[in-house]
Amino acid sequence: MSESTPARLLGMSGSLRTGSYSNAVLETLREKFEDHADLRIYDLQPIPAYNQDFEGENRPAPVKALLAAIAASDGLVLCAPEFNHSIPGVLKNALDWASRPAFTSVMAYKPVAIMATSRGPLGGARCLEHMRVALDSMLARVTLAREVLITAAADKIRGGRLVDEASLGFACAAVEALLCEIRLWRKAENLLTPGETPAFR
Ligand SMILES: Cc1cc2nc3c(=O)[nH]c(=O)nc-3n(C[C@H](O)[C@H](O)[C@H](O)COP(=O)(O)O)c2cc1C
Repeated sequence: MSESTPARLLGMSGSLRTGSYSNAVLETLREKFEDHADLRIYDLQPIPAYNQDFEGENRPAPVKALLAAIAASDGLVLCAPEFNHSIPGVLKNALDWASRPAFTSVMAYKPVAIMATSRGPLGGARCLEHMRVALDSMLARVTLAREVLITAAADKIRGGRLVDEASLGFACAAVEALLCEIRLWRKAENLLTPGETPAFR
């Protein structure tokens, strides 16, 4: 693929709530980057609870669609609220489906930017850390960036958009880092000789 082709990003939110702060952050980023990247925000509402009886060809249709969307993307942008000091079930459930088969799933080697929101003063720090651990287990590439923790989200999100300049700066920097990483991996792919299977994908 050409190194200049706009990146296809898939956004996933840890909240299904109408008026969700995490959805607002993703929507703000979608608009901010629309000239450089195609950020599609995926609706996780139809994804059923994970069940190992239904893997491979037996996956439910909404799960197949999600996995196809992840596979077709160059990278993911995950934004979630903290639920009980961890990852909200809706996002963890989607990641569990996407993580199979272990180590060779659509998540393996996928670049991922992570961010968290909270009404409180910690900004979902524990959720962010748990996201990192879970993504690490499935060999996803969590993009190196300064942590995006949107504290006091109720004061920083207005009309469904992140309006706090400092928080927006951190979130945009994480997406820039993700886009940079995607370009680097594209360059690396182009250095391969035909038929070569590298260890990095
Ligand atoms: C089940 C549940 C657990 C929560 N646990 C935490 C928590 O551990 N830490 C925190 O900062 N906020 C917690 N909250 C508050 C959420 O961060 C807050 O409701 C947030 O607005 C939800 O995200 P959303 O706006 O994207 O829907 C919790 C909310 C719910 C519903």
